[in-house]
Amino acid sequence: MSLTTRLASALPTKHICDLLALFVREGTLSGPDADARLRAIDRALGGQFARASADEEFRAREGQQLMLQGGKKIGAKRVLVIGLGKSRNAESDRETLRTCAAKSVRASRAAGVKTLAISWPSAEGPQALAAELCALTEGASLGAYRFDKYLTEKRALKLTELRLLLDGDSAHKQFKSPSQRMPLDLAIEEGAAIADATCLARDLVNEPASVMTPRALAEAAEAVAKKHGLAFELHGRNAIEKMGMNLFLAVSQGSAEKPQLVKLSWIPKGENGKKKPLALVGKAITFDSGGLSIKTAGGMEDMKVDMAGAAAVIGAMELVARIKPPFPVHAFFGACENMPSGTAYRPGDVIRGKGGPTVEILNTDAEGRLVLADVLAWAVEHEPAAIVDLATLTGAVMVALGPSMTGLFANNDPLAGELLEAAQGAGESVWRMPMPTEMEELIKSPIADIKNTGGRFGGSITAALFLQRFVAKVPWVHLDIAGAASADKERGVNPRGATGAGVRMLVEWIKKRAAAV
Ligand code: BES
Ligand code: MN
Ligand code: ZN
Repeated sequence: MSLTTRLASALPTKHICDLLALFVREGTLSGPDADARLRAIDRALGGQFARASADEEFRAREGQQLMLQGGKKIGAKRVLVIGLGKSRNAESDRETLRTCAAKSVRASRAAGVKTLAISWPSAEGPQALAAELCALTEGASLGAYRFDKYLTEKRALKLTELRLLLDGDSAHKQFKSPSQRMPLDLAIEEGAAIADATCLARDLVNEPASVMTPRALAEAAEAVAKKHGLAFELHGRNAIEKMGMNLFLAVSQGSAEKPQLVKLSWIPKGENGKKKPLALVGKAITFDSGGLSIKTAGGMEDMKVDMAGAAAVIGAMELVARIKPPFPVHAFFGACENMPSGTAYRPGDVIRGKGGPTVEILNTDAEGRLVLADVLAWAVEHEPAAIVDLATLTGAVMVALGPSMTGLFANNDPLAGELLEAAQGAGESVWRMPMPTEMEELIKSPIADIKNTGGRFGGSITAALFLQRFVAKVPWVHLDIAGAASADKERGVNPRGATGAGVRMLVEWIKKRAAAV
């Protein structure tokens, strides 16, 4: 559940709270551009800020923090001055608000604070202000997240309320009437909803694989469908076989857990089949041991994360139900485990799935692309306007782009552009990767149409080229989130563990598509 957040109109010096987080821009500590809020606080505190900032060389660089004691001189018991750095552009400024809001909440946790107020150099126009409120709410709630279900000592967050402070003048100008205020309250609600959906995805990924089985993942999707009135389809082994998804079945056959094929759909009212749907596809390996091409012990430690693509898609559908786009949106995933056993599929096996080509299995650890191939082929049958898949597909994407960036692959430049723009707006790091035709020969097999591995070099690219064989001519984007889906330490709005990567950019993309209709 997101933090209770509301808009409040008060002077930062007067507002009563346990902690006031005062965001200030670099270059506004003194001189002609000095921040009036900071000056007022410093004056009320008898120059405490001026002294402390000199001592600690505080320059309001992005993320820099300085704690001041409030006491009886101002409304706040304590003031945490947080640097925003220099303003760059609207998107990156909004991301800075998110991360600084997350920082404020983490500081509140450490200090056992109950009420937190954030004051920032707010925008003047109502639209820009709404976007800021959304970002602050989102960042604060994302920063408040903890997966503490299995901790005996939970150390719960004491924070009960977050107030976003607009001081006297601008507040009166900007929301004197209810009709002016409503879009601002809606922006806060939206920020909270985005954070909730992201945290749902985080929860699904953080659950141990013994809990988040294929069955449990399908049930999580069903719960979202029930809660938001989405259509839900679940197919078991027999249906999967009838649909010809032999690649999916092959991957699942070494596990005691049965495969689960899921479709979750938003269908707008009065839908007459004239509007092409969007298709979202998520990788849903609830545990990836590597199969007979078994992973090392270390390589397996975090492999419960291998269903993060499906988790993102489930989280995104929760928000699609809120956005109510005028076109259908389908989410697809094939959930199973990749396990070694006497019934497991083998290196050397040749399998024809639902899509066209026969596939020679060389490495059973390259399983994600096999399941995705069948599910993508199913998505294509729905004649979508576009397909976006999200998958923790390759370790190689981290070799190429670092530990936390998402690799974007596309067969269509405008669609790639849309997703890159959406990622920027949402504050997710995504970089486009090439899909050179000359590398297609790396996945040719002597005894089948293609093979499931492409050798040591360009591993995330050969994986993408493999998937491309199954999307026909549909505009398609593949997001390799192997690095982005989980973090080994807290960074920005993300905690250690699952990040909920992909949810926010998907939603931003669908919102823009819906607005463009
Ligand atoms: N699920 C893994 C990829 C992965 C690695 C996700 C690390 C998250 C963190 C995937 O199924 C896999 O095992 N890929 C292999 C492919 C190889 C066998 C061609 C890899 O990346 O090593
Ligand atoms: Mn694998
Ligand atoms: Zn995998």
